Amino acid sequence: MSEPFDAVDVITTKRDKRELGDGQIDWVIDAYTRGIVADEQMSSLAMAVLLNGMNRREIARWTAAMIASGERMDFSALSRPTADKHSTGGVGDKITLPLAPLVAACGVAVPQLSGRGLGHTGGTLDKLESIPGWRAGLTTQEMFHQLEDVGAVICAAGAGLAPADKKLYALRDVTGTVEAIPLIASSIMSKKIAEGTGALVLDVKVGSGAFMKDVDQARELAETMVALGTDAGVTTVALLTNMQTPLGLTAGNALEVRESVEVLAGGGPEDVVELTVTLAREMLSAAGRPDVDPADALRDGRAMDVWRRMISSQGGDPDAALPVAHETHDVLAPADGVLTQLDALKVGIAAWRLGAGRARKEDPVQAGAGVELHAKPGAQVRGGERLLTLHTDTPDRFERALDALDRAFVIAPTGSRPDLLPLVIERVG
Ligand code: URA
Repeated sequence: MSEPFDAVDVITTKRDKRELGDGQIDWVIDAYTRGIVADEQMSSLAMAVLLNGMNRREIARWTAAMIASGERMDFSALSRPTADKHSTGGVGDKITLPLAPLVAACGVAVPQLSGRGLGHTGGTLDKLESIPGWRAGLTTQEMFHQLEDVGAVICAAGAGLAPADKKLYALRDVTGTVEAIPLIASSIMSKKIAEGTGALVLDVKVGSGAFMKDVDQARELAETMVALGTDAGVTTVALLTNMQTPLGLTAGNALEVRESVEVLAGGGPEDVVELTVTLAREMLSAAGRPDVDPADALRDGRAMDVWRRMISSQGGDPDAALPVAHETHDVLAPADGVLTQLDALKVGIAAWRLGAGRARKEDPVQAGAGVELHAKPGAQVRGGERLLTLHTDTPDRFERALDALDRAFVIAPTGSRPDLLPLVIERVG
């Protein structure tokens, strides 16, 4: 059967800065998924989009075509409303772990489809897989039951959800086209809309450890995604949040689970607690429960109860000891003073090189590997005190991790004030 469009025409339309028609978009996404449009043609189109952009109609159509490439989940038959959160990814970003059970403890179900980490940002599934017995793969029916029974599910997205995005994302990764805002926005939102959540809160990270290095770019991405969600009938808001420095005091799989459990037990680092509660408030409000205060459910142990049930429903043992790396190496403060900078990207790369992350998607990760922080920007430190502890099972990785940490921190004279962005920079939506 002959095809209604020609791939070269679609590419040259965007190359010449013209708008793609609805039919062209529907066809190119479908034909790429079917293997009719070749990888080299799609990478050329992705580069044209990166260079010349797409307008709101084109992005919405592109997103709809990616959703239509696969199945669409529907949780509207659940007895409670649903809300999800998506983070654009950062270093030490373990917020999903305490957040999902916290929101569920407040009466809103959380169907969270997550991914594995690639590069310097960790993946939620890798973190949870450090809990003995926990499994990421659930059928849609298991997901539905767990949402009704426990209220929160964090699991892997099945192969049937937005398959066009899976193929296109892998292609963008190797063709220098990840950074295009229309492509990032449609990639994220196609999966979230197909997942069937009623409300969505986007945590758009800004800073060295994030995709978006400055606030203007992050705002553009946030506005694009909020418009896509709203147009698709999903109540969507976004927060721009600081990723200049790692979140909390850990970056690495089991290290981050331990810290998340501390938060659920009523302790944990201030920034992790603040962001968890702020995002929970947004999710509850977007799901129609603005009157419930999530801080109470964190304090009185209700969120911890949901966490334990959520982990055991997926085969995990919430009481099992978490894996610990065999070797550690301390990085000491070279002088007395104020820690004014601790670079998220460099810490993320160090954690990755220690074995917490993977270079190719089929690589294994070390559950115990990562970086532990002993101070955050703004803290007074003393020369010779521990600033960071590196954890790995394979000590020959220390050298490359230490290379990554070259100039990762600045210690200024006592009395200096760091110039830091606030944790929550802006709200969009
Ligand atoms: N995360 C996604 O799912 N897609 C992108 O394009 C970027 C980040």
